[in-house]
Amino acid sequence: MDWGMQNRLAGIIKPESGRCVMLAVDHGYFQGPTTGLEKPGETVAPLLRYADSLMLTRGVLRNCIDAAGRTPIVLRVSGGTSVLKDDLSSEDLTVSVEDAIRLNASAMAISVFVGSDNEKKTLKNLSRLCDDGQKYGIPTLAVTAVGKQMVRDARYLGLASRIAAELGAQIVKTYYCDDFDKIVNGCPVPVVIAGGKKIEERDALKLAFDAVSAGAAGVDMGRNIFQSRWPVQMIQAVRSIVHEGQSDAHAWDAFCAATDQPTAVAR
Ligand code: 5RP
Repeated sequence: MDWGMQNRLAGIIKPESGRCVMLAVDHGYFQGPTTGLEKPGETVAPLLRYADSLMLTRGVLRNCIDAAGRTPIVLRVSGGTSVLKDDLSSEDLTVSVEDAIRLNASAMAISVFVGSDNEKKTLKNLSRLCDDGQKYGIPTLAVTAVGKQMVRDARYLGLASRIAAELGAQIVKTYYCDDFDKIVNGCPVPVVIAGGKKIEERDALKLAFDAVSAGAAGVDMGRNIFQSRWPVQMIQAVRSIVHEGQSDAHAWDAFCAATDQPTAVAR
């Protein structure tokens, strides 16, 4: 791997541990206004010191994020669909590699829709992006997006993750499921999990713990952090699981102490 690629990857995944906490705030690229992201700059400002990288679109980056910041950027470069359509799978590349370079992106993120009508198109998008990234030393993160008709199980997510890695992605982002270790063991590049829809903080911490225990490199989490009533305490708790090897129970106790709630309530 060449130096630039290695250097960018090292900013996202800590080389000493192989772990990462990525903060995802790219949801608006297909769903428009998103609870908690009305003013993305204000939402992320207190969280950035706890995030190893920030995943977002170029519009939010250019307009809402301080250019003097040091957090590595994972730039969403696929899109072209919206929640107004039933089928979200018809994504294209929406950002040129030159613009990603101008924005000093540490990685480019793209969704693939394996098993959908647009499987081939989105996998070809991924391949092209990996070629571009390879040319300039920029890693590609492939998100295994799941259509409504797909089952989020280890067989499907393992298939999609493996294909993404085979086509050249340096990092794969997928969803946690039972037998998650099978996905990780079948994928030759680091796997991170999306948090998914907002759930109770206690459950989100268990999700993070289960994922890293099963071999995930970490999380690329959005709503379960920025939609929490306590986003700072939440990202701190997630970080303690991913980077300090804390159990979810320990992280929850610390979260409750920091937010002044009785631990027994939500267990
Ligand atoms: C959408 C994405 C989002 O960044 C991703 O889903 C992470 O956010 P959350 O933890 O809220 O699910 O990649 O395709």
